[in-house]
Amino acid sequence: MMNTEENIIKMDMGAMNGGDKSADALLCLGIESSCDETSAAIVDSNQNILSHIIYSQIPEHQKYGGVVPELAARAHILAIDTVVRQTLAAAGKSISDMDVIAATAGPGLIGGVLIGWLAATGMAQATGKPLVAVNHLEGHALVPRLHAAAADGTDLPDGVAFPYLLMLASGGHCQILLVRGVGQYEQIGQTLDDSAGEAFDKVAKMLGLGYPGGPVVDARAQKGNPTRFHFPRPLCDKPGCDFSFSGIKTAARTMLDKAPEPHSDEFINDFCASFQAAVVDCIVNRLEHAMKDERVRKAAPQTLVVAGGVAKNSAIRAAMERLAGSNDMTFAAPPLSLCTDNGAMIAWAGIENFRVGRIVKEPIAPRPRWPLTEL
Ligand code: KG4
Ligand code: ZN
Repeated sequence: MMNTEENIIKMDMGAMNGGDKSADALLCLGIESSCDETSAAIVDSNQNILSHIIYSQIPEHQKYGGVVPELAARAHILAIDTVVRQTLAAAGKSISDMDVIAATAGPGLIGGVLIGWLAATGMAQATGKPLVAVNHLEGHALVPRLHAAAADGTDLPDGVAFPYLLMLASGGHCQILLVRGVGQYEQIGQTLDDSAGEAFDKVAKMLGLGYPGGPVVDARAQKGNPTRFHFPRPLCDKPGCDFSFSGIKTAARTMLDKAPEPHSDEFINDFCASFQAAVVDCIVNRLEHAMKDERVRKAAPQTLVVAGGVAKNSAIRAAMERLAGSNDMTFAAPPLSLCTDNGAMIAWAGIENFRVGRIVKEPIAPRPRWPLTEL
C-alpha cells in the first residue's frame, strides 16, 4: 500500500520565495527520515524551495499512541524511493543537476536514519556528488535562515542572520542554544528530563486526545481557561537556563486521577490551557535567564528564534514575540510548515554546510545520539 505513488502525501511548498533557481545558485537534494516523516526537498542557495514532499507516517503510529521504531523503519523503506523520485520530478530535475546531496545522519530512530542516509550515500556514490551528513537538530536550528516568519505568520523574507538565541523544542529535544554560525552551537540550557514535545504528547495521551499531542492541546487550549488548574513551574525559582517538564507531567497525572471521567469538553479545554500556560511560563523564564547569560550578552544576538515541532505552538510563539520585544530583539520562527520534521530543513543545512566545506570525506556511521555541541 504505502509504496504506491497515490499514497505519498504531497506537501507541495511551491517555489517559496520566487521560483526557478538562478544560474549561480547551488542546488541541494535533502532527505529526512529520523522519526515518522519520510521527506525530501530540493532547495537552492538563494533560499528557494523548488520541490518538497513529506510522507507522514502519523496515521500508522496513531493507534499505538506514539512512534513505533520498527514500524517507522519499515515505512521509510517502502516510501523513500517514491518520495525522492517525486521530489526530483516535481522540480523537473535529475540527480545529476544537484550540486550537493544531504541527509539526516542522526540523532533519531536509527532504523529510519539508516534508510535515508543509505539512499543519499548511494546517490552520491553513483554520481560523484558531494555528500553532507546533516545533524537533524542542525536542520531545525538553521531552517529559520531559509524561511522565517513573525508570530502571526507574516513572512520575514531575509531569513535570520547569525548570531541568534534559539529555543529548540521538538518531540525529542529541548534546549536553548546560542547559534553563532554554521557548526557553532553553544548550549545555554537543556532539559533535565522530558522534552517540551514529550510533555505535550504525554498529557494529550492522558486526556485521550491521541498522537501527536501538541497540535490538539494547542487547539483545545485556545478555548480554555489557563488559570483553572494549578500546574507547577519547575526550576523557575532557580538560577540557570535548564528545563524540567516531568513534574508538570506528574501533576497532570495526579489531577486527572482525582477527576472523575468522562471529562467534559470544558474540563479538557481548561486542562490543556492550564498545562500549556505552565510550559509557556517555563520557556519564558528560562529564556529570560539565557538573555542574561554572560556568553549571550557578549555575543549580543539580535534575534530570538524558536524552532522544532513545538515551535508551531501559538502561545509559545506569541509569548516569545512579547519577550523579544521587551528585550529589544526581533522574534522569528520558521513558517508553520517548516517547524515539524521536513526535508527542506535538511536540504538547507546541506547548502549551509557545503558552503563552508563541511562535506563527508570518508564513510561515517549514522548516530542515534549526536549532540549539536559535538559538531
Ligand atoms: O520536530 P518534530 O517534528 O520531531 C522531532 O524532531 O521530535 O516535533 C514533533 C513534536 C511532537 O511532540 C508534537 O506534539 C509537537 O512537536 N508539536 C507541537 C505542536 N505541533 C507539533 N507542540 C505544541 N504545540 C503544537 N502546535
Ligand atoms: Zn525534529
